[in-house]
Amino acid sequence: MLVPGKILLDHAFANHYAVGAFNANNMEQVQAIIDAAAETQSPVFIQVSRGALKYSRMTYLRNIILAAAEEHPEIPVAMHLDHGNGLEIVKTAIDLGFTSVMIDGSLDETGKIPLSFEENLAVTKAVVDYAHPFGVSVEAELGTLGGIEDEVGSGQIHVTDPEQAVEFVKQAAVDSLAVAIGTSHGAFKFKEKCVLAHDVLEEIHRRILDMPLVMHGSSSVPDDLVALVNQYGGKMPNTKGVEIAQIQQAIPHGVAKVNVDTDGRIAITGAIRQFFAEHPEKFDPREYLAPARDALKNVVQLRMQQFGAAGNAPKIHQLTLNESKKFYDR
Ligand code: G3H
Ligand code: 13P
Ligand code: ZN
Repeated sequence: MLVPGKILLDHAFANHYAVGAFNANNMEQVQAIIDAAAETQSPVFIQVSRGALKYSRMTYLRNIILAAAEEHPEIPVAMHLDHGNGLEIVKTAIDLGFTSVMIDGSLDETGKIPLSFEENLAVTKAVVDYAHPFGVSVEAELGTLGGIEDEVGSGQIHVTDPEQAVEFVKQAAVDSLAVAIGTSHGAFKFKEKCVLAHDVLEEIHRRILDMPLVMHGSSSVPDDLVALVNQYGGKMPNTKGVEIAQIQQAIPHGVAKVNVDTDGRIAITGAIRQFFAEHPEKFDPREYLAPARDALKNVVQLRMQQFGAAGNAPKIHQLTLNESKKFYDR
């Protein structure tokens, strides 16, 4: 069942777990995510980046996600735009029926130049004003993702300023706030070990107590999945992800949504590499896409359990049956 993102966020926040938000680009990924949610009875964000929308030519992915929600009416699913970079893409997503959008005003539309606090606030407010009348939830981002121990900058420049977070949510009626506490996208997040600014997260949570927080860049990049890729011809040295224990440490401090993409990409790649290495004579895509789908499902399922989301779908389902029906009929 398709539901507004806010319903998932608020339930997770109130019950001290985090909903997993998993990126998808194609049918197999959507099926893996919804199957994992169904098997663990978890609510879920299925999220689509701008790149994913472009790759899937807009309507394909949207229709596949709707098919997943239809196949599993008992699973509350938010269809979420990941890293929207302006009002235009947000409008497109809402036209497509997305129930949740992220406006990432931390960087400009090229994704390279940091926007000022005021610029971020302005674009975020415009998105909130546009999205809320449609019942669509809005996630904003303050601070920029990036390791706090890498060579760029002195450290603190990436991390969300708690003072600014207070001001930001006072002025923009967002439904969740993505914070930068040292995570980054991809498979190479840290040079040595996982270091997160838990103190900053805790301070932000203390100061904006009722705001669900979001962790991006939260793949844990497990050694066994990377080893499989490398065993079968891949070349991914020196990978480093976010320790699961550190995500679990963060969740009681307001983190209600945790984004995972890279772990799934690695799982899929390992499964396909292994298949081709063991069956060089095969050429039917279904034969290698099915184990890839299973590998992604296993990772997603595990994350849902680790984030505490498993078993929460029925509770939200009861809560939202009427509200979602209204939303669906709009
Ligand atoms: O935000 C990062 C997600 O992993 C999506 O990545 O823009 O390559 O689809 P993408
Ligand atoms: P990872 O690259 O750590 O999976 O992060 C994904 C993400 O934050 C998507 O928005
Ligand atoms: Zn992200």
